[in-house]
Amino acid sequence: VIIALYILQVVLKKETRLCSSKSIVTVNGKFPGPTIYAREGDNVLIKVVNHVKYNVSIHWHGIRQLRTGWADGPAYITQCPIQPGQNYVYNFTITGQRGTLFWHAHILWLRATVHGALVILPKLGVPYPFPKPNHEAVVILAEWWKSDTEAVINEAIKSGLAPNVSDAHTINGHPGPISNCTSQGGFKLNVDPGKTYMLRVINAALNEELFFKIAGHKLTVVEVDATYVKPFQTDTIVIAPGQTTNVIVTANKNSGKYMVAASPFMDAPIAVDNVTATATLHYSGTLDNNPTTTLTTSTPPQNATPVANSFLDSLRSLNSQKYPANVPQKIDHSLFFTVGLGVNPCPTCKQGNGSRVVASINNVTFVMPTIALLQAHFSGIKGVFTTDFPANPPFAFNYTNTTPPANMGTTNGTKVYRLSYNDTVQIVLQDTGIIAPENHPIHLHGFNFFQVGKGIGNYNPKTDPKNFNLVDPVERNTVSVPSGGWVAIRFHADNPGVWFMHCHLEIHTTWGLKMAFLVDNGKGPNESLLPPPKDLPKC
Ligand code: C2O
Repeated sequence: VIIALYILQVVLKKETRLCSSKSIVTVNGKFPGPTIYAREGDNVLIKVVNHVKYNVSIHWHGIRQLRTGWADGPAYITQCPIQPGQNYVYNFTITGQRGTLFWHAHILWLRATVHGALVILPKLGVPYPFPKPNHEAVVILAEWWKSDTEAVINEAIKSGLAPNVSDAHTINGHPGPISNCTSQGGFKLNVDPGKTYMLRVINAALNEELFFKIAGHKLTVVEVDATYVKPFQTDTIVIAPGQTTNVIVTANKNSGKYMVAASPFMDAPIAVDNVTATATLHYSGTLDNNPTTTLTTSTPPQNATPVANSFLDSLRSLNSQKYPANVPQKIDHSLFFTVGLGVNPCPTCKQGNGSRVVASINNVTFVMPTIALLQAHFSGIKGVFTTDFPANPPFAFNYTNTTPPANMGTTNGTKVYRLSYNDTVQIVLQDTGIIAPENHPIHLHGFNFFQVGKGIGNYNPKTDPKNFNLVDPVERNTVSVPSGGWVAIRFHADNPGVWFMHCHLEIHTTWGLKMAFLVDNGKGPNESLLPPPKDLPKC
């Protein structure tokens, strides 16, 4: 067994962006944090040491964690947080996965600055299913607030109103040369003419889907969410928080500087941070200090849904002999989940006229427990959660109408949906227009799923399944439910434990757009959740 060993020190670090400085929570003093490298099949041991005054937990986003839910990381779902001064060793084996994923804090809004790339190389001697690029680079997209992000979210929780949007986007930690306040001019990717580069693009932003583009260069998409896809070329990719996309760029110019740009895609009339982050693709030998020679590009406008769709609809599983798409064909649980916003009474809220914004799935606003669900499940602690998460919304209505029926209050609850080991599941995720139709990047822990269908309007259970792709649908861990539409996903519940599913727009998670699946142990020898490690943090 090969062991990859890492120590992550959670420490404060003073950083300056947009002409102002603040202390941020980081790993090892880096923003973005260090890249973790491992190979398929490795046993990974990562010791996280908490030196800050906040509770911390880290999630290895997209790692299946087969039978090792204790290492998954979401606070109060699979573990109690690591308290100040404490540490915890995340111990897991990477089974059947290779590609780009990322790690991030999974408690309140700490992931704004606590995140980094997780690169899983294929087993030694196993090639990529596409020509090996000459070089590889990690490109992490994120958001920057001038003020303290924990203060921003705590204020929003108290007031019941939406929090402030970020002040800038960042590419590998920097807004880029367009910002008058950045001295170094942002991230620079140096390239040699004629060489190929695989960019491992990660969206670690809290609340915004992003377009990503490089002036004068095409992007060949080869992988999303650590699963290979049929390669295709595009000018622009769209990437939601929680998603990763590998693209290959050929440096087919002789010299020059080319703008790399990231800006929001948000098909809804709501406030977003509209600042385009930029970086530079820099050919070797080109003089550094002449900004006028950079070839610029503009990303699509914020509401360019056709651009996003043409990219998203091109994604197909590679589905080769070596990497088959094992799409569940027969379904044990057919679920219909509404995802969206709502309003609930809030007599204690200081603003918002006695009401607050909430979010829900099937009208259930998820309430975080105070003991981790996985612990309660494993030790049989009663009263922490109930297993009555509804398979359908309480009543049907025109989900995409922006003037919904009057009775749209949600119920609070810590409800899970229970599955038997190896059950097959289909979930139709239907966006609702309550308050506003909005994209929701839904992330499922513990599994990859296949996106078998997608549409605009209300899902029709009679006609829509006829158009499902059950042959080579894209396989991912995070899918964006389109504004005013739906997606259908399928997965195989072959991983015992408790698995979080939530909107990866952090504000929607905060408001309650989350639930969990509980998968029982199977009867076979390797079909049960392993016992918790000795150093599992206590609440
Ligand atoms: Cu990347 Cu539960 O999150």
